[in-house]
This record gives sequence, C-alpha cells and structure tokens, in this order.
Amino acid sequence: MVFRTAESLQEQIKNLGGNKKVGFIPTMGALHHGHISLVEKAFEYAEIVVVSIFVNPKQFNKEEDLKEYPRNIEADVNLLKTAGKVLVFAPSVEQVYPSGYENISLELGSIATIMEGKYREGHFDGVINVVKRLFDIVKPDFSFFGLKDFQQLSIIEFMVETLDLDVQIIPCEIIREKTGLASSSRNERLSEQDKEDAVVISKALKIGAELASIFSPKDVKKVISNIVNMSNLKLEYIEIVDPKTLLSIDVWMPGAQACIAAYCGEVRLIDNWQMTSFE
Ligand code: PAF
Repeated sequence: MVFRTAESLQEQIKNLGGNKKVGFIPTMGALHHGHISLVEKAFEYAEIVVVSIFVNPKQFNKEEDLKEYPRNIEADVNLLKTAGKVLVFAPSVEQVYPSGYENISLELGSIATIMEGKYREGHFDGVINVVKRLFDIVKPDFSFFGLKDFQQLSIIEFMVETLDLDVQIIPCEIIREKTGLASSSRNERLSEQDKEDAVVISKALKIGAELASIFSPKDVKKVISNIVNMSNLKLEYIEIVDPKTLLSIDVWMPGAQACIAAYCGEVRLIDNWQMTSFE
C-alpha cells in the first residue's frame, strides 16, 4: 500500500497495532535486490516495515543529477511486493519539507568533509535533514542502512547519538552481483560493457585486503589506485580509514576500511571493503 501523506501513514501504523515494532528503510527508489535484502532484514526485527521512496532534493549538489535520478514507483512497488507486506511511504517534497521547514544543522566535523563530503558539497547536510524528518514521521524502532554507503551510515549513527534519537540503526551487509560489483541504483545506468569494466573496483579492493598483512596502508592504497588507474575507470579517491573516525590511517588498526569512488563513463560508483578484521 502506498501512502502519500505523513498523516495517512501514521494512521495506518496506528491501526496495525500500537505496540508493534516498526522497522524503517529510507530509499530514493530505483530499488534493487540490495534494498530487498534490507527489507528482509527489517522483518527479522519488526512486525511493521515501512519503506520510503523519496528523491531528496536537498542531497543533490547538481541540478542535473536530481533531474536524471531514475524514478519508477510502479516498478519499485512491484519489487517490494516480492519481499512481503510493506508500507510504502512516497511523499511529495511539500510533505517532507512543508513551508516554514527549518533545516537542522549539526556540526558534523571532518566526518562530513572528507571523501564523499569533499566531492559532494552539502550532500550530508541534505541526508541528515531528510533522514531526521523521515524518522520524525515514521517513528521507527529500527532503521536499516546498507554498508555500501559507509560514510553515510557513520553520519547517521553520529546524528542519532548526538540528537539522542530513539531509534536503533542496523548496518546491513553490502549486496554484490556475482561478479563482485556492489549493487546500486546507479548500476541501472551502466551498459553491459560498463558493468564488466566496473568490476575492477571490487577486484582491486579484494586484492588490497589480501595484501594488508604484508603491506602498509599507504602501499595497499597505491596498489588499489594503480589497478583502477590501469582500467577504463577514472578514480576519484581511494582512502584507507579508521572505521570510526573515517580519518586516513598510516598504521593498520582493527576494522580498517578502504573506501573508493570512481567514474565508469558518466556514472559515479562508490564501494568499500574491510581491510583488516576487528580481532
Ligand atoms: O542512501 C540513500 O538512498 C539516501 O541517501 C537516503 C538515506 C534514502 C536519504 O535520502
């Protein structure tokens, strides 16, 4: 069932029973099996699962990207039906940001100005605004975010902690194609040839992780960037970071993470890979 207004969604949640746990997956649509895995995870935690489909204008720094973002609510709703009975919340911009809406502004610090934050100015301010607003509407007990957007997940966790929000964030594994390519709505825009080319990202990261026991983070970073630079992709950044602070590291630490962004033609892809275990 698709709900267009906050009131109608809240009414439905109330009618389904006040004490039921609510799991929430915010999305911008263009759903794929990565999203379905989040829905399946949500049903392990909650009796009511809400999926929002809202292309958030505040998190795009290029008007063109916002215009070109794929929108096909019918296909999204049909795909969601395969995962169970979910409540779909597909609000208008006015519902999410009514007139007089005031942006929340959180001092995110370096966590939001490096990597994605450096190349997509204002992006994370847009993300925290929409997620906070959606949390206020849905009032979930749990919310599910893919680890593919590693930096986004850290920022949402930071927001929840800083604002002391009453929701538990559940990080969910990256879902990959058989080739290793991380599932993403952007993959829709890749040709078959692009998809073959794009596999170099996960291959390079995997090789990096295999070398982590003998090479320094700096050298692993060099290996990964050399592999990607020899391919048809255009590397934007590769960083090996502390999984908590997201700051670059010189010395290995538990859970060190390699984060990468590269262009395959016009399509910007991101991925990440854990380089060292937490033990
Ligand atoms: O990851 C996304 O799809 C978006 O950034 C999110 C969390 C739905 C906010 O618009």
